[in-house]
Amino acid sequence: MMSIGKATAVSCANIAFIKYWGNSNPQLRLPANGSISMNLDRLVTHTTVHFTPDLRSDTLNLNGRTLIGAQLSRVSDLLERVRRMASIDLSAEVVSENNFPTGSGIASSASAFSALALAAAAAAGLTLSEQELSMLARTGSGSACRSVPGGFVEWKPGTTHLSSYAFSIAPPDHWELVDCVAIVSREHKVTGSTSGHSLADTSPLQAARVEDTPRRIEICRRALLARDFEAFAAIVEADSNLMHAVMQTSTPALLYWLPATMAVMHAVQRWRALGTPVCYTIDAGPNIHVICEAGSAERVEADLRKIPGVIDVLTAQPGGPARLVRSPA
Ligand code: DP6
Repeated sequence: MMSIGKATAVSCANIAFIKYWGNSNPQLRLPANGSISMNLDRLVTHTTVHFTPDLRSDTLNLNGRTLIGAQLSRVSDLLERVRRMASIDLSAEVVSENNFPTGSGIASSASAFSALALAAAAAAGLTLSEQELSMLARTGSGSACRSVPGGFVEWKPGTTHLSSYAFSIAPPDHWELVDCVAIVSREHKVTGSTSGHSLADTSPLQAARVEDTPRRIEICRRALLARDFEAFAAIVEADSNLMHAVMQTSTPALLYWLPATMAVMHAVQRWRALGTPVCYTIDAGPNIHVICEAGSAERVEADLRKIPGVIDVLTAQPGGPARLVRSPA
């Protein structure tokens, strides 16, 4: 067993090809449906956790800013789980840094809670399996359970804490896909995913979406394993459109797209019709992930930059699992 103290972990963000939307248990973040994603190697969070007798309560510093309130409580809840598992009673200093621009509209909760789970467990002297770390990360942010394993990942929804975790279905080098993230807004989203999930069941379409998920998961997994871009593109866009149909028909309605989001959607469909293997997928915000094979990435990125309303394009390739690194002094 490691001694109680300090540990640093690094973890990638991920992009879902089959989306998680809605919870069967919001406290434990058990999802309404399974999902599939790819880790994003260039979008990472570094987190150091230090359990120390010098503190009377947990502290959180993100990108150089001290955070309190709801953000700190969410982190403390995960630390509390770790303290119970390790039978320790020390507060922790948490220092976290995203390498992607803050406020870029890129989801950071997945990489954040995956890195936090690994760093906190190690700092508390626990040796957890990948599965256990994935479950722990899930309690902080659902999609974070998918950033614990490497490469292409599937999250089995499960019905209990111990049956809901993610695992790799293929390593990062299985398929040279590139995610070109078109940034169309840097504003903070009005409705974040946590409150969004709780609205899912107000849409009459959610039940049909959830019931049909095993079929979409199966098609997506097969397309990924066979590197069949045509089948992959069709299911990825259909799944994103289905989730946004649920969002747009919730009460209140969640409309995440901006005009530039739709301009990119139309451009991607046009490029694909002209023969470029490319597809889009959109999370709970206006920015749009454009997925292509490595051979087309340079052109796709350049063409995205020409679309009015596209402020920037970030690119990432399949990333590895969450891992421990040397802590700063
Ligand atoms: C639209 O994992 O961000 O990106 O558990 O409340 O943190 P919380 O939700 P989160 O939800 C992700 C929603 C999504 C789809 C996905 O990544 O599968």
